[in-house]
Amino acid sequence: MIEIRPVASAEELRQAANGIVHYFGRDAPTEEWAERWLRNFELGRMLAAIDDGAIVGGAGAFGLRMTVPGGAQLGTAGVTVVGVLPTHRRRGILRSMMRVQLDDIHERGEPLAALWASEETIYGRYGYGLASLVLGFEIPRVWGAYREGLESVGSVRFVDAETAAKVMPPVYDAVQRTTPGMHERAPSWWEIRQLSDPPEFRFGGGPKHFAVLEVDGAPQAYAIYRLHTGFGNLGPETTLRALEVLGSTPEAIRSIWRFLIDVDWTQTISAGCQPLDSPLFLLLARPNFSKPTIGDGLWVRLVDVGAALSGRSYAEDGRVVCDVRDEFCPWNAGRWQLEGGEASRTDDEADLALDVADLASAYLGGFTFRALARAGRVEELRDGGIDRADALFRPDVVPWCPEIF
Ligand SMILES: CC(C)(COP(=O)(O)OP(=O)(O)OC[C@H]1O[C@@H](n2cnc3c(N)ncnc32)[C@H](O)[C@@H]1OP(=O)(O)O)[C@@H](O)C(=O)NCCC(=O)NCCS
Repeated sequence: MIEIRPVASAEELRQAANGIVHYFGRDAPTEEWAERWLRNFELGRMLAAIDDGAIVGGAGAFGLRMTVPGGAQLGTAGVTVVGVLPTHRRRGILRSMMRVQLDDIHERGEPLAALWASEETIYGRYGYGLASLVLGFEIPRVWGAYREGLESVGSVRFVDAETAAKVMPPVYDAVQRTTPGMHERAPSWWEIRQLSDPPEFRFGGGPKHFAVLEVDGAPQAYAIYRLHTGFGNLGPETTLRALEVLGSTPEAIRSIWRFLIDVDWTQTISAGCQPLDSPLFLLLARPNFSKPTIGDGLWVRLVDVGAALSGRSYAEDGRVVCDVRDEFCPWNAGRWQLEGGEASRTDDEADLALDVADLASAYLGGFTFRALARAGRVEELRDGGIDRADALFRPDVVPWCPEIF
């Protein structure tokens, strides 16, 4: 019999986190790792799976506040470090951990949960839906020219981590406040995740560089990147890996990317986790050569359908009724009416029927109900239901989370 319970000590946290660290091919988490991790994480939010006294897996959650359409920030469990050792896989341990975790999130009153999935097949069964997409680029520097007539603004300087901690967060915050899918970052989050640079996370690259673009002395964009330097017979073959690139104005974003693409000795500029509407595709003279790839971004779970739906805003004041299926969290199941931006229970005839995971795919604005219906994920029960729902949920800003947590 496997017991699932919150860890009781930093030592147990390390053992539970080893459930996933094992798959990274790294040594088990150290005391120092646990100390750093706990700067952003509540100990009691790490679950351990225990078999006859031995910890064989774990699942954790950060307490985040995530932007939803309209700009409100909702309490969101940022699910993380989920893993079960290969000795205990496929015995239902993940399912048991998801049960305890979602009940806990519900009791805490967080309307949403969000995560990055290692494999797309895992989390749908627990009601998580794919809620945003990300773009990746592998830009050969020789194809890095922009269309003609695009001048850069401002100037770029390198800063140390201490200065970065002061000048980068305001740029991030400006973008975060208006972008569904982005979460607030505390100073300790910046320190431990963006600005620290432990060698075991360099994956063969050099140190992190912190570049800030200032316009009239004010920081408007930044890039965190590392160089993976290589030399071939014909010269340098370095890859520049952009870890995070953000800007608060279109000119600043364009200019910081120009800076990155122009770094000498670089053959390839590689970037993942970019927004689906990244301006790069329209800026580059030869966008096809940037080898864009599309992938899954944030997966979202509406833990409390009513609070989640009432917590975002809508493009119109119309009305729609959804019949929601939710096997894993039955407290959400049933008919929900959305009217005047407020969700409530109703017995009225439904416009649409769908699974809670598919409602989550539409929630941040990542997918339209029309697109979901085309994929057989939404059933229209009344004429015009899909159009009515799409008119309400239409997003202003494409959802994006720039960071895997
Ligand atoms: C993913 C992982 C946590 C699953 O743990 P587990 O204890 O083996 O999962 P369970 O036995 O509870 O499986 C639950 C269900 O998910 C399915 N499932 C689990 N992992 C799956 C996977 N990788 N692909 C497809 N289906 C999967 C099982 O078949 C089972 O289906 P069912 O409920 O319909 O019968 C485990 O395989 C693991 O640690 N993988 C490597 C690390 C990882 O990817 N972690 C997730 C990070 S986001």
